[in-house]
Amino acid sequence: MERPLTRNIHPNRPALTLKEYEMTGGYAALRKVCSGMSPAAVQKLVADSNLKGRGGAGFNTGIKWSFVPMGDNAPHPKYLICNADEMEPGTFKDRLLLEGNPHQLLEGMILAAYAIQAEVSYVFLRWAYHKAAEIIRRSIQEAYDAGYLGKDILGSGFHLDMHLHTGVGRYMCGEETALLNALEGKRATPRAKPPFPQISGLFGKPTIVNNVETLCCISHIVNNGADWFKGLSYSEDSGTKLYGVSGKVKRPGTWELPMGITMRELIEEHAGGMKNGVELRGVLPGGASTDFLTTQHLDIKLDYKSVAAAGSRLGTGTMIVMDSDTCPVGFVHNLQHFFAQESCGFCTPCREGLPWVEKILWSLEQGEGKQEDLELLDMHTQLLGPGNTFCALAPGAMEPLQSALKYFRDDFEKHIHHKKCPYD
Ligand SMILES: Cc1cc2nc3c(=O)[nH]c(=O)nc-3n(C[C@H](O)[C@H](O)[C@H](O)COP(=O)(O)O)c2cc1C
Ligand code: SF4
Repeated sequence: MERPLTRNIHPNRPALTLKEYEMTGGYAALRKVCSGMSPAAVQKLVADSNLKGRGGAGFNTGIKWSFVPMGDNAPHPKYLICNADEMEPGTFKDRLLLEGNPHQLLEGMILAAYAIQAEVSYVFLRWAYHKAAEIIRRSIQEAYDAGYLGKDILGSGFHLDMHLHTGVGRYMCGEETALLNALEGKRATPRAKPPFPQISGLFGKPTIVNNVETLCCISHIVNNGADWFKGLSYSEDSGTKLYGVSGKVKRPGTWELPMGITMRELIEEHAGGMKNGVELRGVLPGGASTDFLTTQHLDIKLDYKSVAAAGSRLGTGTMIVMDSDTCPVGFVHNLQHFFAQESCGFCTPCREGLPWVEKILWSLEQGEGKQEDLELLDMHTQLLGPGNTFCALAPGAMEPLQSALKYFRDDFEKHIHHKKCPYD
């Protein structure tokens, strides 16, 4: 089984240095591109590989790049931004790539910047990732010293500068347009789309924002081709995927596996199954802002289409497992506490609705809930649903709630009828 993104990452070993990365074939893709591949050819190769963005939305990366204005009349400077905010609860995949093989990310960023002819790039890093910050800062300097960044990279006439920017620890900064505002030194609220960042992004100039894992795929696609990348997968979505499992499983962790492995294989084989004494009740397949799936879904493929057909989203591909000893109401309350705290306050349904949802769930947990509270919760899943708020934070927050009300409604009812949490 090929693991291109993680094969040189070994737990408990320091990050690969530039020399070590070069010894594993690092920067060969950049040399290949600089010795005569056109930006359009790089864009087409990545589009043909059917690489879909690993930040959650799953949009074809090469096609996204193709929306950036090219040619002599294109506005400049253009920007390439790596979204390394990674604050989705339960998600810890990008950290592995950042801390394990930083030059793989940097090479992917340089290639992406070349494909859209950007001259400035940023790594927007989660504030709490102090170790990654140190590693990325050092690696950027190494890349400058080796001539992979700066003026006239490898004699190609292409110039690129790269900067590390650490956020202030807000989930909202991961939303790409709020990230742009944060990078401009403004309050991290989202922007109206259109115009999309590809046309008018950072400082009003054409900008691409891509996830860490997305960018780490690029050098491998350039080296090995689109068909090779497609062949890594078990499904129509290409490549490998960094999957993760947290919760009461025997071996929580992150693994690079073929896109489209089943949920059963991930949980039972790689994560070692449930800990003794507990059973699996529910799974949030792609981080906290995705709908619950249950034991009936164990044999679905973990790809974008199959997870959507089952009523959820692949999201970040890092799942949270809920076990039979955990109260679903308490579990969802915990998530809503996070989302309410992270609401940027820009639009009313989210700013007012999320704290209300949190309060109702808390009163249910305390045994003070009423039957009407369930109707109120149902109503909120509609009011804060897609199309009613300015960005996807609130609809994302409603996904675990609406699916908990669907699959674990009995538990909500028991809190009301027994006037206490049945799990206490
Ligand atoms: C509230 C919120 C938080 C997000 N956080 C992240 C994040 O931490 N990292 C990320 O790559 N994408 C995040 N996204 C998705 C980004 O807006 C964007 O779709 C993504 O960075 C695009 O990269 P990709 O095309 O490579 O997937 C978030 C979206 C929302 C609504
Ligand atoms: S949905 Fe929430 S996070 Fe998004 S803009 Fe509105 S208030 Fe801000």
